[in-house]
Amino acid sequence: MRIGILTGGGDCPGLNAVIRAAVRSTIVEFDGAVVGFRDGWRGVMANDYVMLDVESCRGILPRGGTILGTSRDQPYAVDGGVDQVRAAIEEHRLDAIVSIGGEGTMGVIRDLHRDGVPVVGVPKTIDNDIAATEMTFGFQTAVQICTDAIDRLHTTAESHDRILVVEVMGRHVGHIAVWAGIAGGATFTLVPEEPFDLDDIAKRVVARHRNGKWATIIVVAEGAVPVEGTLEMPTWEQDTWGHAVLGGIGNLVAREMKDRTGMDTRTTILGHVQRGGSPVAFDRVLGTRFGIAAAQAVDERDFGKMVALQFGNIVRVPVEEAVGELKMVDPALLHDREVFHPPRV
Ligand code: F6P
Repeated sequence: MRIGILTGGGDCPGLNAVIRAAVRSTIVEFDGAVVGFRDGWRGVMANDYVMLDVESCRGILPRGGTILGTSRDQPYAVDGGVDQVRAAIEEHRLDAIVSIGGEGTMGVIRDLHRDGVPVVGVPKTIDNDIAATEMTFGFQTAVQICTDAIDRLHTTAESHDRILVVEVMGRHVGHIAVWAGIAGGATFTLVPEEPFDLDDIAKRVVARHRNGKWATIIVVAEGAVPVEGTLEMPTWEQDTWGHAVLGGIGNLVAREMKDRTGMDTRTTILGHVQRGGSPVAFDRVLGTRFGIAAAQAVDERDFGKMVALQFGNIVRVPVEEAVGELKMVDPALLHDREVFHPPRV
């Protein structure tokens, strides 16, 4: 068996665990070979690759990022891109390409499968928003990084009786915010799923501080939005692929909270720190299980599928199930974080 493997989209802790496991399984269990394409689909189209074996994957398990590099290039955005993918498959005599990526990458896999190209998907994103899988690797690492930061912010916020706003990633959903908010004991956690009202939040914070010194920590997901008509939002820049470059809602929330409460307010934007560095144990294990499952899917020629975590088991789902609708935060978890918000006044 011969597989090609690539990592596409934003990086995420645990990518190297997937690569290492897919390589190990292909070579040891299926007596096969693995071609690693550099920088996502760009490497497939340019035939830029490196042969991967057990030796070349030594030591990469705890390493963040991806040893293959990544990009957001994709074959349907380039003239003749799909033919270049077919040519790479033919030249390397590949049974299939295993593509590790987010929702955008899963959309490409769906289209390639429809066009007869053999592909298998592995879901990744720190945002944990891909449908059909309960968890993506990288998410738990990001949550831990945010929780550690919030723990540290508590003591400085308490010393100064300040409001500290912590902006975390979460473009369309608030999984990171809610998990880190609950784990870090945030005063408020603002998520894209539920528009926020700063007048209401400010009143509750003022009432809370009236009874003595309390640290107020407001965790805000980068994609959180105000209740319509309550706050003017900035227009975000767009990157080359037309995605809004988010980051800055934390500053806006902090400024408005200062105006509304008269309290001293500061912002911490955690940004790409959340995506860097070593994966936590959970993400290493999940990435490893996904990598092995992807190699098994290729062996069984079960193409057009995405490996996924469901009820603790690794399963395969048709990749269409992962495209289109994002996985939002469970309303029960939103409720649980709300229990810790200060009472309404
Ligand atoms: O895909 C996860 C994510 O971390 C989002 O939360 C964030 O908005 C985006 O990636 C930023 O990606 P980049 O800076 O690489 O464009």
